Amino acid sequence: MAFKERVFSGVQPTGNLHLGNYLGAITKFVALQERYDCLYCVVDLHAITVWQDPAELPRATREVTAAFLASGIDAKKQIIFNQSQVAEHAELAWVFNCVARLGWLNRMTQFKEKAGKDRENVSVGLYAYPNLMAADILVYRATHVPVGEDQKQHLELTRDIAQKFNTDFAQSIHAHGYGEAFFPLPEPIIQGPATRVMSLRDGSKKMSKSEPSDYSRINLTDDADAIAQKIRKAKTDPEPLPSEEKGLEPRPEADNLVGIYAALKGVSKLGVLKEFGGGQFSTFKTALADLSVAKLGPIGAEMKKLMQDPVYIDSVLADGAARAQVIAAETMKAVKDIVGFVRR
Ligand code: TYM
Repeated sequence: MAFKERVFSGVQPTGNLHLGNYLGAITKFVALQERYDCLYCVVDLHAITVWQDPAELPRATREVTAAFLASGIDAKKQIIFNQSQVAEHAELAWVFNCVARLGWLNRMTQFKEKAGKDRENVSVGLYAYPNLMAADILVYRATHVPVGEDQKQHLELTRDIAQKFNTDFAQSIHAHGYGEAFFPLPEPIIQGPATRVMSLRDGSKKMSKSEPSDYSRINLTDDADAIAQKIRKAKTDPEPLPSEEKGLEPRPEADNLVGIYAALKGVSKLGVLKEFGGGQFSTFKTALADLSVAKLGPIGAEMKKLMQDPVYIDSVLADGAARAQVIAAETMKAVKDIVGFVRR
């Protein structure tokens, strides 16, 4: 069955939006809006799977919204909203809690990393997190999901849930006139040279919001001096850059910086090596710092400007939630028929 093509993705409002979020996800969001109807969600329900200070969460939610807007997402054409305002996400997540198997969730590597040794003490929500993510996507019957590499396994689980729902309820789906398959199997969009941006201090670790050292990441709100300084101090090795991509394989830090440059410039890694291969690392770092400041500086400045106007940001979110809910409510109505809930 052909589903209407639709894009959905989400970003957690947990502070410190960084270059990894920007290159792995937000730049894709911007590009995809030319071709698709898109929903971009600030996933505050996901955020509270670990403790969030209620006095800080609204600011973080508005900051992600500001990043979407400052990066160029058109809130009139596309839908920007925060997850908690469309109750259907949580409602469908419950149905998926009853579709997904315990064994599937036990395999989730991100849960293992986040829970660490303290498993008995993490929230049930952290464990069920991927089911809510599946609900986010499927409540809009979205077909394409732009994400960084670290979300790949969650997307596979989403497809498994959609498939199992379609199979378990096949008869009911058919009997209610919803065709052969109710949910699409959404495609992850994980492309380009920066699907996994690494820490600037350690090329074996992902760039992340929770890393204690601020020098490990470039935040979208960093000013020009901070960006330049972080790149100057980024860990590298003493060799000049290679001329072939193969030469980057044993050099994770160099590989990461070349990937960042390529993604910011919109060229391939090989293109970057053609320009800088054989040259000194310091020359490349200067060029990378200049490029980063040129690309990220205006976004950071616009975010700060938008953050001065929370009333405007809240109006964008409210308008987005109202439009999102129309689609989500229609899906939930059908899901209730399919599962066998008597509707009022
Ligand atoms: P979150 O908030 O951790 O990250 C938001 C997006 O940024 C990407 N990303 C990275 N990409 C490249 N390099 C990095 N170092 C890096 N760090 C983060 C993430 O892959 C993500 O695309 N579970 C999701 C949010 C979510 C979601 C969804 C995404 C909730 N529901 C439905 C897609 C569809 C998360 O925690 O992303």
